[in-house]
Amino acid sequence: MYALFAVGVNSNFRIRYNTMLPANILFSDRPSEDLSKLLVQKHYSKTVVLVDENTRKFCLPLLFDDLSSLHVIEVSSGEEHKNLDTCQRIWSKMTELALDRHAIMVVVGGGVLGDMGGFCAATYKRGIDFVLIPTTLLAQVDASIGGKLGIDFQSFKNHIGVFQQPILTLLHTGFLKTLPLAELRSGFAEVIKHCLISDPKMWKEISTKSLEDLAWKDLVEHSVVFKALVTSEDPKEKGLRKILNAGHTIGHAVESYLLEAGRRILHGEAIAIGLIAEGYIAAEKGLLAKKDFHEITSYIIKIYGKILLKDDDVRESSGLAVQDKKNRDNRILCVLLNGIGNAKWDEEITVDQIRESLHYYQKL
Ligand SMILES: NC(=O)c1ccc[n+]([C@@H]2O[C@H](COP(=O)([O-])OP(=O)(O)OC[C@H]3O[C@@H](n4cnc5c(N)ncnc54)[C@H](O)[C@@H]3O)[C@@H](O)[C@H]2O)c1
Ligand SMILES: [Zn+2]
Repeated sequence: MYALFAVGVNSNFRIRYNTMLPANILFSDRPSEDLSKLLVQKHYSKTVVLVDENTRKFCLPLLFDDLSSLHVIEVSSGEEHKNLDTCQRIWSKMTELALDRHAIMVVVGGGVLGDMGGFCAATYKRGIDFVLIPTTLLAQVDASIGGKLGIDFQSFKNHIGVFQQPILTLLHTGFLKTLPLAELRSGFAEVIKHCLISDPKMWKEISTKSLEDLAWKDLVEHSVVFKALVTSEDPKEKGLRKILNAGHTIGHAVESYLLEAGRRILHGEAIAIGLIAEGYIAAEKGLLAKKDFHEITSYIIKIYGKILLKDDDVRESSGLAVQDKKNRDNRILCVLLNGIGNAKWDEEITVDQIRESLHYYQKL
């Protein structure tokens, strides 16, 4: 078990791994027992479980022996359902079930369900307790930690939402066994990011291994401890929390452009591109040693392969970065690695630098 001590000094920081986790995060080898313990202890008036068709099939049986007496709300999987329509269906079901303020919602799913289910619970009758049981790698290492909840609105991602902590985040890596490989690899980009911005030792550890050889339990724990510390130090993203956006300024611009162009790639694939492109800029600025940059690039390409980017894609994506939520006064603000294991946020970069970095990626 690790704990972190962050020393946030402007846009620079040092992190030290040691022991401890927030009280509402639990790693469990027996999620069914641990969940029922909580439900019994707290005497909830009713328990409702939110699933999608995949987590109903693969994950629910690992949590409840008797499914017959359970109140289950099932919604369709996929980002396209993370919207107000689905929330209305969830709130309607909660109302039909006559849930009062002493009820609890257990959300069993990936980041889509965690964000949306948590949001529905946090707003129903001004908020009831909820448990997050993240079942994808991305949800375990990222989405279920830090209290951000919400939904997409019109064409804006995570546009409507609240900050609220679950009563418990229950982590069980056994759920990952049924996760499609593409989803596992996608979530892994956040693990790579966490290692690169905080822990050179863990980076060394993962970068010598292939996906099949990784010890998920250790890696999930490592990422969770890191994200929990960063987000508890800076819950509303005023400073330190911004480092979690490493790889995301350029990655998100490419992801959004390709989505609009009808060539959707997975989030983690986009972040893989972003980590290389932003690494290129960091190396050009002299923040990241060339040798380290090449090591990062070759590992990421080994895991994700190379995603085809046409010249139009490069030009249009570079332009899109100007609209990034994290920018201020029309300046593109980015997280840049300051050597492996350290990062600086609010570093200004230009559209030309982004274009150049993506051209570099194209030619790899
Ligand atoms: N709140 C935050 O801080 C935060 C951070 C990062 C990402 N997010 C959000 O997370 C979402 C993406 O989450 P995701 O990548 O988990 O996608 P997801 O929730 O869409 O899940 C991916 C797919 O895996 C299926 N699935 C889930 N668990 C499974 C299992 N154990 N076995 C088999 N199939 C399973 C799901 O049904 C779905 O089809 C995005 O909406 C993003 O905005 C939120
Ligand atoms: Zn991400």
